Parts: sequence; C-alpha cells; structure tokens
Amino acid sequence: MKHILVTGGDGLLAYQLKQIAPPDFNFSFLGRAEFDLTQKDLMAQRLAELQPQVVINTAAYNLVDRCEIERELSWSVNATAPQQLAELCAEKKIQLVHYGTDYVFDGAKKSPYAETDAAHPLNHYAAGKFAGEQAVLRASPQHLVLRTSWVFDWHPTQTKTFIHTILKTAREGRAMKSTTDQFSVPTFATDLAQWTLALVRGGAGGLFHAVNDDGVCRYDWAKIILDEAVNAKLLAAAPPIEPVLSAYFNSTMRRPDYTVLDNAKLAKCLGRPLGSWRPGLKKMLAQMK
Ligand SMILES: NC(=O)c1ccc[n+]([C@@H]2O[C@H](COP(=O)([O-])OP(=O)(O)OC[C@H]3O[C@@H](n4cnc5c(N)ncnc54)[C@H](OP(=O)(O)O)[C@@H]3O)[C@@H](O)[C@H]2O)c1
Repeated sequence: MKHILVTGGDGLLAYQLKQIAPPDFNFSFLGRAEFDLTQKDLMAQRLAELQPQVVINTAAYNLVDRCEIERELSWSVNATAPQQLAELCAEKKIQLVHYGTDYVFDGAKKSPYAETDAAHPLNHYAAGKFAGEQAVLRASPQHLVLRTSWVFDWHPTQTKTFIHTILKTAREGRAMKSTTDQFSVPTFATDLAQWTLALVRGGAGGLFHAVNDDGVCRYDWAKIILDEAVNAKLLAAAPPIEPVLSAYFNSTMRRPDYTVLDNAKLAKCLGRPLGSWRPGLKKMLAQMK
C-alpha cells in the first residue's frame, strides 16, 4: 500500500483528500507546525521518519495581494520550498505532487491555455508559483505539477472564499459589483483531489492543467452562485449584481484578465471529460445549509 504524505494538512484541498482517502493508500496529513515549508531541516527529518512513497504538497502562500507585501515570506513558501522539497524527494526516489496556478499566464491569448503555452507571470504571487512549479519539474521527470484555478469546496473552518463572500454580502443586503472582464475556471476541490489520486495511481509525471470544464467571468460565476443558493434555499431571492470592469476596483496589482486553462491533456490521460464545476457547486451549497 502506497504511503502518501500530504502537506498543508489543514487547507481546502488537503481536507478533500482526507474526505475521499481511498483504502489503497495510507495517508499522513501534516499541518504547518509538523511540516513547515520554510524549514528545510524539518522537511528532511519528516521524510526520513515517515518514508512516504509520494508527497502531495498542497501547502502554499495563497493570499495573492499580500504576496506583494510579504515578498520574501511568500517567495520562500511558493518558490524556494517547492524546489528544496522536490530535490529532497528526488534524492529519496519519492514522487512529489505539486500545484501551480492559472496566474502564470498574462491573459493575452484570449483562448484556453495549453501546457505548452509560454508563461508570463504579472505579479509576485504568480512569479513565485511559476518558479516553484518549474523547480519541481526540473528536479525529476517523476514529479507531477497540476495547475489549477478558482478552487472551491466546503471546509469546516474556511469561510472566506469567494462563495462565502458573495453569500454574506447578499444576506447583508449590501450592493454587489463583479467583473465582466476577468475569466477563469472554477474548480471543485473534490474533483481535483480525485484527479490527483488517479494520476498517482497511473504513475503519471510532468505538467497538467487540472481544472473543470467551462470558463466563466467573475460576474457570471457570482450570478450562478446566487441562483444556485436560491435553489438550495440558502437565500430567499438572488439580489442584483452590477457588472463592472476590473479597472473599477483601481488595484495597483496587475492581474491577468483571461486565464482559462485547457484541460484536454488531463482528460485524455484519465480517459474521460473532467466535467463541469456545477454539480460541485450544488454539493457545496447543500453542505453549507
Ligand atoms: N485556492 C485556489 O483558488 C487556488 C488557485 C490556484 C492554485 N491553487 C493552488 O492549489 C494548492 C492547494 O490550495 P488550497 O486551496 O488547498 O490552499 P489553502 O486552503 O490556502 O491551503 C494551503 C495551506 O498551506 C498552509 N501553509 C501556508 N504556509 C505554510 C508553510 N510555510 N508551511 C506549511 N504549510 C503552510 C496554510 O496554512 P495556514 O492556514 O496556517 O496559513 C494552508 O493550510 C496550492 O498550491 C495553491 O497555490 C489554489
């Protein structure tokens, strides 16, 4: 039975891996205190103690705006640590599974990005995540990088996701604005966890775009969340949302406006379409009731 060590054990994706944990794998979920990505010696010690065959690294510094302020810390978690972990794993013939982001692209293409398209990160978060994934891929052909986007799912303590924010704003009756010029793909974390384990089982390595089907703009995503929340009886009625362009929010940080990923390579590898995020949204809202 393969022993899998999962880092970032208290995060969203780790929680979903824990929920689906199939009996043919033996899992150890380690949170930040037990497996801190900024402490190379601690990582080496844990690998020596636990001797996993696979490490799934879900830990990351994900606060995109704060990355511009906490530049060194975010770089150490998103770029330096994955490199160190990938090298430690390669030395011990452990497979490392790591997650990248759609933000590695600059948005200029305006049609879904394939794994072969050139990356051009626009901000510090994206640059750190790109450096991290590339280091993982360089360290061993056995290592696996899954780029994903707009990950959502139910979690017992995470209540600050985009879905929570939309529902909270609606319940408080506050005015809502959402952008019509920012496109990506919502991805259900349970699906991402299942694709990950299917790839590990199949012995795959390399880079994959791991997102559900159907790209949307933020505005449409927000409207669909509200409509489904009404269907799930979480809201009495869907309040209006004002469509705006991203320039309206006057952010100093550059964000790509189009980062829809093409998931054809992963779908071919798994032998089935990856499917829409809509059933996942319905499941999450049902759990929120
Ligand atoms: N969520 C998205 O929309 C999205 C989009 C694109 C890519 N991804 C990637 O997908 C992967 C999984 O994301 P997720 O949504 O599961 O993230 P998440 O819920 O934010 O979980 C990440 C976990 O990493 C932990 N962490 C932060 N710094 C750490 C450190 N120095 N050492 C050890 N653990 C640390 C966090 O702990 P604390 O809670 O203590 O900070 C958190 O529990 C990440 O690589 C992420 O970059 C996510």
